[in-house]
Amino acid sequence: MKNVKCLVSKFKEMFSKNPLIIRSPGRINLIGEHTDYNEGFVLPAAIDKNIFFVISPRDDKKCLLYAADLNDDFEFDLNNFCKSEKVWPNYLIGVVDQLKKSKLEIQGFNCVFGGDIPIGAGLSSSAAIEAGLAFALNEIFELNIEKINLVKLSQRAENEFVGVQCGIMDQFINIFGKENKVLKLDCRTLEFEYYPFELNDLQIVLCDTQVKHSLASGKYNARRTQCEEGVRILRKFNNKIHTLRDVDLEFLNSHRSELDPTIFKRCKYVLNENSRVDASCRDLENGDFISFGRRMYESHEGLRYEYEVSCKELDTLAEIASNHEAVLGARMMGGGFGGCTINLVKKDGLEDFKEKIEKKYFAHFGKSIKFYITRIESGTSIISEFEMNRISNC
Ligand code: GLA
Repeated sequence: MKNVKCLVSKFKEMFSKNPLIIRSPGRINLIGEHTDYNEGFVLPAAIDKNIFFVISPRDDKKCLLYAADLNDDFEFDLNNFCKSEKVWPNYLIGVVDQLKKSKLEIQGFNCVFGGDIPIGAGLSSSAAIEAGLAFALNEIFELNIEKINLVKLSQRAENEFVGVQCGIMDQFINIFGKENKVLKLDCRTLEFEYYPFELNDLQIVLCDTQVKHSLASGKYNARRTQCEEGVRILRKFNNKIHTLRDVDLEFLNSHRSELDPTIFKRCKYVLNENSRVDASCRDLENGDFISFGRRMYESHEGLRYEYEVSCKELDTLAEIASNHEAVLGARMMGGGFGGCTINLVKKDGLEDFKEKIEKKYFAHFGKSIKFYITRIESGTSIISEFEMNRISNC
Protein backbone atom coordinates (compact mmCIF):
# COMPACT_ATOMS: atom_id res chain seq x y z
CA MET A 1 0.00 0.00 0.00
CA LYS A 2 1.54 3.30 -1.05
CA ASN A 3 -0.61 5.61 1.05
CA VAL A 4 -4.14 6.20 2.24
CA LYS A 5 -5.04 7.97 -0.99
CA CYS A 6 -4.43 4.76 -2.90
CA LEU A 7 -6.91 3.03 -0.61
CA VAL A 8 -9.47 5.76 -1.29
CA SER A 9 -9.00 5.41 -5.08
CA LYS A 10 -9.43 1.67 -4.76
CA PHE A 11 -12.56 2.19 -2.69
CA LYS A 12 -14.04 4.58 -5.26
CA GLU A 13 -13.17 2.22 -8.07
CA MET A 14 -14.93 -0.65 -6.27
CA PHE A 15 -17.90 1.12 -4.71
CA SER A 16 -18.16 4.63 -6.20
CA LYS A 17 -19.26 6.25 -2.97
CA ASN A 18 -17.85 8.87 -0.59
CA PRO A 19 -16.27 7.06 2.32
CA LEU A 20 -15.21 7.89 5.87
CA ILE A 21 -11.48 7.48 6.45
CA ILE A 22 -10.08 6.22 9.75
CA ARG A 23 -6.49 5.93 10.93
CA SER A 24 -5.82 3.16 13.46
CA PRO A 25 -2.28 2.93 14.87
CA GLY A 26 0.03 0.14 15.95
CA ARG A 27 1.61 0.30 19.37
CA ILE A 28 4.84 -0.02 21.28
CA ASN A 29 5.11 -0.99 24.92
CA LEU A 30 7.92 0.63 26.87
CA ILE A 31 7.68 -1.73 29.81
CA GLY A 32 5.11 -3.98 31.51
CA GLU A 33 4.95 -7.13 29.39
CA HIS A 34 2.55 -10.02 30.04
CA THR A 35 1.15 -8.10 32.96
CA ASP A 36 -2.15 -6.92 31.46
CA TYR A 37 -4.00 -10.23 31.74
CA ASN A 38 -2.68 -10.52 35.28
CA GLU A 39 -4.42 -7.25 36.20
CA GLY A 40 -1.07 -5.50 36.43
CA PHE A 41 0.45 -2.36 34.90
CA VAL A 42 1.58 -1.54 31.36
CA LEU A 43 3.20 1.48 29.71
CA PRO A 44 2.33 1.51 25.99
CA ALA A 45 2.08 4.24 23.34
CA ALA A 46 0.44 4.46 19.91
CA ILE A 47 2.85 4.95 17.00
CA ASP A 48 3.15 6.33 13.49
CA LYS A 49 2.42 3.02 11.80
CA ASN A 50 -1.20 2.58 10.87
CA ILE A 51 -3.99 0.63 9.34
CA PHE A 52 -6.38 2.87 7.39
CA PHE A 53 -10.04 2.05 6.95
CA VAL A 54 -11.98 3.48 4.05
CA ILE A 55 -15.59 2.65 4.75
CA SER A 56 -19.21 3.48 4.01
CA PRO A 57 -22.58 2.02 5.04
CA ARG A 58 -24.79 -0.04 2.74
CA ASP A 59 -28.55 -0.35 2.61
CA ASP A 60 -28.57 -4.14 2.89
CA LYS A 61 -26.96 -6.64 5.28
CA LYS A 62 -23.89 -7.45 3.21
CA CYS A 63 -20.36 -6.67 4.43
CA LEU A 64 -17.76 -6.39 1.68
CA LEU A 65 -14.15 -6.33 2.80
CA TYR A 66 -11.07 -5.76 0.71
CA ALA A 67 -7.61 -6.23 2.28
CA ALA A 68 -5.48 -4.06 -0.01
CA ASP A 69 -2.10 -5.34 1.22
CA LEU A 70 -3.10 -8.93 0.55
CA ASN A 71 -5.11 -8.11 -2.57
CA ASP A 72 -7.81 -10.34 -1.17
CA ASP A 73 -11.48 -9.83 -0.51
CA PHE A 74 -14.17 -11.37 1.64
CA GLU A 75 -17.91 -11.04 1.88
CA PHE A 76 -20.33 -12.02 4.61
CA ASP A 77 -23.93 -11.42 5.58
CA LEU A 78 -24.85 -9.84 8.91
CA ASN A 79 -27.66 -12.31 9.42
CA ASN A 80 -25.64 -15.37 8.70
CA PHE A 81 -21.90 -15.55 9.38
CA CYS A 82 -19.41 -17.88 10.99
CA LYS A 83 -15.66 -18.10 11.49
CA SER A 84 -13.77 -17.88 8.22
CA GLU A 85 -11.20 -20.44 7.09
CA LYS A 86 -9.01 -17.53 6.06
CA VAL A 87 -7.35 -15.88 9.04
CA TRP A 88 -7.62 -12.14 8.36
CA PRO A 89 -11.42 -11.75 8.03
CA ASN A 90 -11.92 -13.11 11.55
CA TYR A 91 -10.44 -9.99 13.15
CA LEU A 92 -13.18 -7.99 11.44
CA ILE A 93 -16.08 -10.45 11.65
CA GLY A 94 -15.28 -10.76 15.37
CA VAL A 95 -16.08 -7.07 15.83
CA VAL A 96 -19.39 -7.39 14.01
CA ASP A 97 -20.13 -10.45 16.13
CA GLN A 98 -19.59 -8.39 19.30
CA LEU A 99 -21.88 -5.60 18.09
CA LYS A 100 -24.55 -8.19 17.46
CA LYS A 101 -24.05 -9.71 20.90
CA SER A 102 -24.43 -6.21 22.37
CA LYS A 103 -27.73 -5.92 20.46
CA LEU A 104 -26.45 -2.96 18.46
CA GLU A 105 -28.21 -2.65 15.12
CA ILE A 106 -26.03 -2.06 12.08
CA GLN A 107 -26.44 -2.28 8.33
CA GLY A 108 -23.94 -3.84 5.99
CA PHE A 109 -20.87 -1.88 4.88
CA ASN A 110 -18.17 -1.61 2.22
CA CYS A 111 -14.65 -1.46 3.54
CA VAL A 112 -11.19 -1.20 1.99
CA PHE A 113 -8.31 -1.34 4.44
CA GLY A 114 -4.53 -1.54 4.50
CA GLY A 115 -1.48 0.07 5.98
CA ASP A 116 2.09 -0.25 7.11
CA ILE A 117 1.96 -2.07 10.46
CA PRO A 118 4.09 -5.16 9.87
CA ILE A 119 2.17 -8.34 10.66
CA GLY A 120 3.52 -10.67 13.34
CA ALA A 121 6.14 -8.13 14.45
CA GLY A 122 4.57 -7.48 17.86
CA LEU A 123 3.22 -4.03 16.95
CA SER A 124 -0.33 -5.16 17.39
CA SER A 125 -1.71 -5.06 13.90
CA SER A 126 -4.58 -7.24 15.14
CA ALA A 127 -5.77 -4.72 17.74
CA ALA A 128 -5.43 -1.97 15.11
CA ILE A 129 -7.80 -3.90 12.86
CA GLU A 130 -10.30 -4.72 15.61
CA ALA A 131 -10.39 -1.36 17.36
CA GLY A 132 -10.13 0.53 14.07
CA LEU A 133 -13.18 -1.23 12.65
CA ALA A 134 -15.11 -0.85 15.93
CA PHE A 135 -14.34 2.87 15.88
CA ALA A 136 -15.35 3.15 12.21
CA LEU A 137 -18.65 1.32 12.64
CA ASN A 138 -19.43 3.41 15.70
CA GLU A 139 -19.03 6.49 13.51
CA ILE A 140 -20.86 5.46 10.37
CA PHE A 141 -23.84 3.97 12.23
CA GLU A 142 -23.85 6.58 15.02
CA LEU A 143 -23.92 3.92 17.71
CA ASN A 144 -22.70 6.22 20.50
CA ILE A 145 -20.46 3.58 22.02
CA GLU A 146 -18.17 5.08 24.66
CA LYS A 147 -14.44 4.83 24.03
CA ILE A 148 -13.85 2.39 26.86
CA ASN A 149 -16.56 0.11 25.51
CA LEU A 150 -14.97 0.18 22.05
CA VAL A 151 -11.83 -1.10 23.76
CA LYS A 152 -13.60 -3.88 25.63
CA LEU A 153 -15.61 -4.93 22.63
CA SER A 154 -12.49 -5.17 20.46
CA GLN A 155 -10.68 -7.21 23.08
CA ARG A 156 -13.63 -9.60 23.30
CA ALA A 157 -13.60 -9.92 19.50
CA GLU A 158 -10.05 -11.25 19.76
CA ASN A 159 -10.76 -13.45 22.81
CA GLU A 160 -13.98 -14.98 21.58
CA PHE A 161 -13.77 -14.96 17.78
CA VAL A 162 -10.06 -15.15 16.98
CA GLY A 163 -9.40 -17.28 20.05
CA VAL A 164 -6.39 -15.49 21.56
CA GLN A 165 -6.85 -14.78 25.27
CA CYS A 166 -5.04 -11.44 24.98
CA GLY A 167 -5.21 -8.79 27.67
CA ILE A 168 -6.59 -5.30 27.22
CA MET A 169 -3.38 -3.32 26.58
CA ASP A 170 -3.32 -3.25 22.77
CA GLN A 171 -6.92 -2.28 22.19
CA PHE A 172 -6.75 0.26 25.01
CA ILE A 173 -3.75 2.16 23.69
CA ASN A 174 -5.14 2.00 20.16
CA ILE A 175 -8.13 4.06 21.28
CA PHE A 176 -6.59 6.16 24.08
CA GLY A 177 -3.09 6.91 22.70
CA LYS A 178 -1.84 10.51 22.80
CA GLU A 179 0.94 12.21 20.85
CA ASN A 180 4.32 12.21 22.66
CA LYS A 181 2.85 10.53 25.73
CA VAL A 182 3.06 7.05 27.15
CA LEU A 183 0.06 5.73 29.02
CA LYS A 184 0.31 3.96 32.33
CA LEU A 185 -2.68 1.67 32.57
CA ASP A 186 -3.84 -0.14 35.65
CA CYS A 187 -5.32 -3.21 33.99
CA ARG A 188 -7.37 -4.01 37.07
CA THR A 189 -9.27 -0.74 37.53
CA LEU A 190 -8.65 0.59 33.99
CA GLU A 191 -7.55 3.88 35.54
CA PHE A 192 -4.86 5.49 33.46
CA GLU A 193 -2.42 8.35 33.45
CA TYR A 194 -0.33 9.90 30.68
CA TYR A 195 3.40 10.50 31.15
CA PRO A 196 5.36 12.80 28.87
CA PHE A 197 7.88 10.97 26.74
CA GLU A 198 9.94 13.81 25.35
CA LEU A 199 12.81 12.12 23.59
CA ASN A 200 15.03 15.13 22.82
CA ASP A 201 18.34 13.53 21.86
CA LEU A 202 16.91 9.98 21.93
CA GLN A 203 15.06 7.88 19.44
CA ILE A 204 12.81 4.84 19.80
CA VAL A 205 14.17 2.18 17.49
CA LEU A 206 12.47 -1.12 16.83
CA CYS A 207 14.61 -3.96 15.53
CA ASP A 208 12.51 -6.56 13.75
CA THR A 209 13.94 -10.07 13.99
CA GLN A 210 11.68 -11.04 11.07
CA VAL A 211 10.80 -14.10 13.11
CA LYS A 212 7.04 -14.08 12.79
CA HIS A 213 5.29 -14.64 16.03
CA SER A 214 1.73 -15.78 16.20
CA LEU A 215 -0.13 -15.39 19.45
CA ALA A 216 -2.59 -17.88 18.07
CA SER A 217 0.13 -20.54 18.31
CA GLY A 218 -0.92 -21.44 21.83
CA LYS A 219 2.22 -20.48 23.75
CA TYR A 220 0.67 -17.15 24.70
CA ASN A 221 -2.49 -18.76 26.07
CA ALA A 222 -0.30 -21.29 27.88
CA ARG A 223 1.47 -18.52 29.82
CA ARG A 224 -1.86 -17.15 30.86
CA THR A 225 -2.96 -20.57 32.11
CA GLN A 226 0.25 -20.95 34.10
CA CYS A 227 -0.38 -17.66 35.89
CA GLU A 228 -3.93 -18.75 36.66
CA GLU A 229 -2.58 -22.02 38.03
CA GLY A 230 -0.28 -20.02 40.34
CA VAL A 231 -3.27 -18.02 41.55
CA ARG A 232 -5.32 -21.17 42.12
CA ILE A 233 -2.68 -22.61 44.43
CA LEU A 234 -1.85 -19.38 46.25
CA ARG A 235 -5.54 -18.82 46.84
CA LYS A 236 -5.61 -21.90 49.04
CA PHE A 237 -3.56 -19.91 51.55
CA ASN A 238 -5.49 -16.67 51.21
CA ASN A 239 -8.91 -16.64 49.59
CA LYS A 240 -8.69 -12.90 48.96
CA ILE A 241 -6.33 -13.65 46.08
CA HIS A 242 -8.09 -13.44 42.73
CA THR A 243 -5.23 -12.55 40.38
CA LEU A 244 -1.47 -12.05 40.68
CA ARG A 245 -2.21 -8.42 41.45
CA ASP A 246 -3.30 -9.56 44.93
CA VAL A 247 0.04 -11.27 45.60
CA ASP A 248 3.24 -9.68 46.88
CA LEU A 249 6.75 -11.04 46.58
CA GLU A 250 7.02 -11.98 50.25
CA PHE A 251 3.84 -14.06 50.10
CA LEU A 252 4.94 -15.69 46.86
CA ASN A 253 8.35 -16.58 48.31
CA SER A 254 6.79 -18.01 51.46
CA HIS A 255 4.81 -20.46 49.30
CA ARG A 256 7.56 -21.33 46.89
CA SER A 257 7.65 -25.00 47.89
CA GLU A 258 3.94 -25.40 47.13
CA LEU A 259 4.39 -24.23 43.56
CA ASP A 260 5.80 -26.05 40.59
CA PRO A 261 9.18 -24.33 39.86
CA THR A 262 8.00 -23.15 36.42
CA ILE A 263 4.82 -21.64 37.84
CA PHE A 264 6.85 -19.95 40.57
CA LYS A 265 9.16 -18.36 37.97
CA ARG A 266 6.22 -17.08 35.92
CA CYS A 267 4.55 -15.49 38.95
CA LYS A 268 7.79 -13.97 40.21
CA TYR A 269 8.40 -12.35 36.84
CA VAL A 270 4.93 -10.77 36.79
CA LEU A 271 5.28 -9.30 40.29
CA ASN A 272 8.71 -7.84 39.49
CA GLU A 273 7.55 -6.47 36.15
CA ASN A 274 4.67 -4.65 37.83
CA SER A 275 7.12 -3.00 40.24
CA ARG A 276 9.34 -2.06 37.29
CA VAL A 277 6.46 -0.23 35.58
CA ASP A 278 5.87 1.82 38.73
CA ALA A 279 9.54 2.61 39.09
CA SER A 280 9.86 3.48 35.39
CA CYS A 281 7.09 6.07 35.75
CA ARG A 282 9.05 7.68 38.57
CA ASP A 283 12.07 7.72 36.27
CA LEU A 284 10.02 9.56 33.67
CA GLU A 285 8.90 12.10 36.26
CA ASN A 286 12.57 12.67 37.05
CA GLY A 287 13.55 12.77 33.38
CA ASP A 288 15.93 9.90 34.13
CA PHE A 289 16.16 7.88 30.92
CA ILE A 290 19.32 6.13 32.10
CA SER A 291 17.50 4.49 34.96
CA PHE A 292 14.50 3.88 32.71
CA GLY A 293 16.74 2.10 30.21
CA ARG A 294 18.22 -0.09 32.92
CA ARG A 295 14.77 -1.31 33.83
CA MET A 296 14.15 -2.20 30.18
CA TYR A 297 17.18 -4.51 30.30
CA GLU A 298 15.91 -6.04 33.54
CA SER A 299 12.54 -6.60 31.95
CA HIS A 300 14.20 -8.45 29.08
CA GLU A 301 16.11 -10.69 31.48
CA GLY A 302 12.87 -11.57 33.23
CA LEU A 303 11.11 -12.33 29.95
CA ARG A 304 14.06 -14.42 28.86
CA TYR A 305 14.79 -16.51 31.92
CA GLU A 306 11.64 -16.44 34.04
CA TYR A 307 8.71 -15.95 31.72
CA GLU A 308 10.53 -17.70 28.84
CA VAL A 309 8.80 -15.93 25.96
CA SER A 310 11.94 -14.72 24.19
CA CYS A 311 13.90 -16.44 21.45
CA LYS A 312 17.56 -16.53 20.42
CA GLU A 313 17.16 -13.76 17.86
CA LEU A 314 15.60 -11.38 20.40
CA ASP A 315 18.19 -12.27 23.04
CA THR A 316 21.04 -11.65 20.63
CA LEU A 317 19.61 -8.26 19.64
CA ALA A 318 19.15 -7.21 23.27
CA GLU A 319 22.69 -8.35 24.04
CA ILE A 320 24.26 -6.48 21.11
CA ALA A 321 22.29 -3.38 22.09
CA SER A 322 23.44 -3.57 25.70
CA ASN A 323 27.05 -3.43 24.52
CA HIS A 324 26.55 -0.34 22.38
CA GLU A 325 27.31 2.99 24.02
CA ALA A 326 24.47 4.84 22.30
CA VAL A 327 21.81 2.54 23.74
CA LEU A 328 20.16 3.33 27.06
CA GLY A 329 17.85 0.36 27.18
CA ALA A 330 16.58 -2.54 25.08
CA ARG A 331 14.20 -5.45 25.47
CA MET A 332 11.90 -7.73 23.56
CA MET A 333 8.46 -6.25 23.11
CA GLY A 334 4.93 -7.64 22.99
CA GLY A 335 3.89 -11.27 23.21
CA GLY A 336 7.36 -12.58 22.32
CA PHE A 337 8.67 -15.67 20.48
CA GLY A 338 9.75 -13.34 17.67
CA GLY A 339 8.82 -9.85 16.57
CA CYS A 340 10.78 -6.78 17.65
CA THR A 341 13.05 -5.45 20.32
CA ILE A 342 12.47 -1.89 21.46
CA ASN A 343 15.59 0.23 21.96
CA LEU A 344 16.20 3.70 23.37
CA VAL A 345 19.05 5.02 21.29
CA LYS A 346 20.95 8.33 21.33
CA LYS A 347 20.43 10.10 18.01
CA ASP A 348 24.12 10.75 17.44
CA GLY A 349 24.94 7.05 17.71
CA LEU A 350 21.98 5.81 15.69
CA GLU A 351 23.75 5.14 12.39
CA ASP A 352 26.58 3.27 14.08
CA PHE A 353 24.06 1.27 16.12
CA LYS A 354 22.15 0.24 13.02
CA GLU A 355 25.30 -0.73 11.19
CA LYS A 356 26.62 -2.88 14.05
CA ILE A 357 23.29 -4.59 14.66
CA GLU A 358 22.85 -5.31 10.97
CA LYS A 359 26.31 -6.85 10.65
CA LYS A 360 26.22 -8.90 13.82
CA TYR A 361 22.67 -10.10 13.26
CA PHE A 362 23.59 -11.30 9.80
CA ALA A 363 26.73 -12.98 11.10
CA HIS A 364 24.72 -14.85 13.75
CA PHE A 365 21.64 -15.85 11.81
CA GLY A 366 22.42 -15.36 8.14
CA LYS A 367 19.39 -13.17 7.70
CA SER A 368 18.72 -9.46 7.53
CA ILE A 369 16.99 -7.24 10.02
CA LYS A 370 14.51 -4.39 9.67
CA PHE A 371 14.51 -1.14 11.61
CA TYR A 372 11.55 1.07 12.41
CA ILE A 373 12.30 4.47 13.88
CA THR A 374 9.03 5.34 15.55
CA ARG A 375 7.25 8.44 16.79
CA ILE A 376 4.54 8.43 19.43
CA GLU A 377 1.21 9.47 17.93
CA SER A 378 -2.41 9.75 18.95
CA GLY A 379 -4.89 6.87 19.02
CA THR A 380 -7.49 5.98 16.40
CA SER A 381 -9.08 9.00 14.74
CA ILE A 382 -10.97 10.21 11.69
CA ILE A 383 -8.79 11.65 8.92
CA SER A 384 -10.27 14.99 8.00
CA GLU A 385 -10.45 16.39 4.49
CA PHE A 386 -7.84 18.94 5.51
CA GLU A 387 -5.41 16.16 6.50
CA MET A 388 -6.19 14.25 3.31
CA ASN A 389 -5.29 17.29 1.24
CA ARG A 390 -1.86 17.31 2.81
CA ILE A 391 -1.14 13.71 1.80
CA SER A 392 0.53 13.25 -1.57
CA ASN A 393 -1.42 11.60 -4.34
CA CYS A 394 -1.42 7.87 -4.91
C1 GLA B 1 0.12 -9.20 23.24
C2 GLA B 1 -1.28 -9.13 23.85
C3 GLA B 1 -1.33 -8.12 24.99
C4 GLA B 1 -0.21 -8.35 25.99
C5 GLA B 1 1.14 -8.53 25.29
C6 GLA B 1 2.22 -8.93 26.25
O1 GLA B 1 0.44 -8.02 22.60
O2 GLA B 1 -2.23 -8.78 22.87
O3 GLA B 1 -2.59 -8.15 25.62
O4 GLA B 1 -0.51 -9.43 26.83
O5 GLA B 1 1.07 -9.49 24.25
O6 GLA B 1 2.47 -7.91 27.14
